[in-house]
Amino acid sequence: MTAKIISERIAATETANGTFTPTFFRTTDPEQAMALHRLLESKPYIQVYDTILSQLREVVKTDHPSKTMTDGEIDEKIEERLAGRSSADYGVWVYYPWSEKLVHLLDEQEFIYVRTNRNKYKITDQEEALLATRRVGVIGLSVGQSVSLTMAMERTFGELRIADYDTLEITNLNRLRSGVFNMGLLKTVLVAREIAEIDPFLKVTCYHEGINDNNIDDFLTKGGKLDVLIDECDSVDVKIKSRVAARKFGIPVLMEASDRCTVDIERFDLEPDRPILHGYVDHLDLGQMRDLKTMEEKLPYILPIVGIDTMSPRLKASAVEIGQTINTWPQLASAVTMGGGIMADICRKVLLRQLSVSGRYFIDIDELITDGNTKEIEFPAEPDPITLTDIKALSAKLPATVPVSTAIDAAITRKLMDAAVLAPSAGNNQPWKWYNDGKRLLLFDDPARSFAFANYDNMITHLSMGSAIENVDIAASAAGMALDVVLFPLKASGNLNPVAAVAVKADAGRVADPLFAYLKSRHTNRKPGDGTAIDTAILDEVRTEAMKAGVSSVKFLTEKDDISRIAEIAGRSDKLRMFIPEGHMDLFRKEMRWGNDPAKIKDGLDIKTLDLKPKDQVGFRVIRDGRAMQLLSDWEAGAVLENMTKDLMATASAVCLISGRDFSPESCINAGRAMQRAWLVTEKHGLAVQPVMAPIFHFARMVHGNGGGMSDQIVAKFAEMHHSFIELFNLSLTAEEPLFMFRIFRSEEPAVKSIRLDVDDVYYSN
Ligand SMILES: Cc1cc2nc3c(=O)[nH]c(=O)nc-3n(C[C@H](O)[C@H](O)[C@H](O)COP(=O)(O)O)c2cc1C
Repeated sequence: MTAKIISERIAATETANGTFTPTFFRTTDPEQAMALHRLLESKPYIQVYDTILSQLREVVKTDHPSKTMTDGEIDEKIEERLAGRSSADYGVWVYYPWSEKLVHLLDEQEFIYVRTNRNKYKITDQEEALLATRRVGVIGLSVGQSVSLTMAMERTFGELRIADYDTLEITNLNRLRSGVFNMGLLKTVLVAREIAEIDPFLKVTCYHEGINDNNIDDFLTKGGKLDVLIDECDSVDVKIKSRVAARKFGIPVLMEASDRCTVDIERFDLEPDRPILHGYVDHLDLGQMRDLKTMEEKLPYILPIVGIDTMSPRLKASAVEIGQTINTWPQLASAVTMGGGIMADICRKVLLRQLSVSGRYFIDIDELITDGNTKEIEFPAEPDPITLTDIKALSAKLPATVPVSTAIDAAITRKLMDAAVLAPSAGNNQPWKWYNDGKRLLLFDDPARSFAFANYDNMITHLSMGSAIENVDIAASAAGMALDVVLFPLKASGNLNPVAAVAVKADAGRVADPLFAYLKSRHTNRKPGDGTAIDTAILDEVRTEAMKAGVSSVKFLTEKDDISRIAEIAGRSDKLRMFIPEGHMDLFRKEMRWGNDPAKIKDGLDIKTLDLKPKDQVGFRVIRDGRAMQLLSDWEAGAVLENMTKDLMATASAVCLISGRDFSPESCINAGRAMQRAWLVTEKHGLAVQPVMAPIFHFARMVHGNGGGMSDQIVAKFAEMHHSFIELFNLSLTAEEPLFMFRIFRSEEPAVKSIRLDVDDVYYSN
């Protein structure tokens, strides 16, 4: 029985759900009086609200602002207004069918007169009259609802056109001011009703189907051209198209993105050639927009619109979680409410021609009102670059026992240096400085280039230096020369001490190293592999060549399961690396180069060399903000940050680990030499290589540096991974120190290769 009644009522409610315009009855007209009578008889449940006498009191008081009137005087004035009529016939009865309410109101002119009285002189009578002639369109009714209602309250339009195809969902109720009974209702209907409940005389036109190619021109012009368009919709496609159309008709566009209260003003009325969205989307293929379905596809379009670099840290961090732990962008009622207020304010000024600027503005409460005690992370001071004076002073200290070149001239030195600069270095930091003291080539570390959190005890520098020495040695072999290399000739590493003294001697008997042929073409490839197996003979050759550099072991993982396990470790390490503020800073501020002109990038990692998919490029820009990263770390979120490395690593044909005998600087240099030989062999066989070093660097800091600089939580995570890592590569920790890991795979060539400093930037002669 109850179920039947409920379903009948649902049907009746649904029928009523389309309505959003109230009905007016002026009972001085006998026909309307009769109609009202019939309505009340047919619907005995209608609730009636009659405060007409108190409204009239307000009219009287408004008429006499300078006078304090007695009740008697007010009543007298009311009687004058009624002029013999019954109060029941005064004004207008307004029936709201959706809520079955009948309300007795002052009629339009008097209603407006008293309802807007508290606007004076924030809005003058002349301004109010002008605003009553203006037309405003609002697309998208989340922030749009807030804007529309605020403008309705303030009464700053004559007609409001609203468009949204969506209905109210429970998930909207965190920011859309509405009752729970309105769930399922079209947002247009919801807003139109709320406006009618605030002021039944306001004109509202609804586009329930939202905005599309067919109705955009109508929306902007039918019934009179809009004076302002307010865009608050989610669709990138509609955002762009509505602006293109608004520009065509010379209609200014306003937008508020609730994050940091970002306000966009585009005065197409004053600047007909203004690029849409301030030119932020000029580089995108706008033709593709309609086909974008997933958030991942839309992100590269959405972020330039909302401004990747200027989003709040919380929104950036949240963006990383979209599709992972949240469904879409978070948005708060406080921000939406504020946005409504700000938009209504700016819109009024634009409508009154009191504002003519265009641009993007922020009214960021987090920045404007702050305790000022937000903890700034303190980064260690960066060392000064090594100078030629330092180099000369240290060179002068070399003992006479350090070998001296017997055959070297400028042409040969040049050849050797040409080879030296081709060496790989972490983050392409090229930390080397070569000095020819007239007797031999001396290799120095430039701490200003090599300083990095990951560079625990200079291990990374030493790996890179090893590869440079190996290159010089291979080039020497090709020139019929041999090297006499003394590592750390001042018997000390660090503190600017020379890393190596290299004496060059003629050696007619020396066979040119066949790997010489691959020095130039060797490079890092960050594309996915095809996972196909590599001949054991090739892997054996890689091992044999690498072992020549005096390392402890060269091991491979080739089984799919093992590769998946190491991929997991690599992914997690890369994420944790970014959760360590210094690690994050190394990557984003020191290593990465974001510029667009590769010709000017001679060091660091040009973002293009990372071969990122467009969505990952966008993600990279988002996580560039250390504050966003810290939030993800605090929330123990950011799982998606593991995926890029993990997925790439999982496509490897083999993963190779080079281990040294210990963690000494010499051992790291030898591992660098071994790395370079291994790399050149893979190059010879047309295989691709990517070093994957985050696990190695952090294990070293954990094992040898007691985890210094990392939080206990992060150390615990690395410790857990270290355990699996040792097991996976079956390492004997007393004899095998893991120093260099890379994936080997088959793939196409990278689109962009890294560039080097010139020889003259890194080589000095006495
Ligand atoms: C010690 C060392 C560590 C490296 N670690 C990584 C790494 O973790 N991930 C990566 O993609 N590339 C890594 N690289 C590759 C360098 O970024 C690359 O060698 C450098 O940018 C120069 O580019 P090229 O190898 O194409 O000449 C590493 C290189 C070296 C020498």
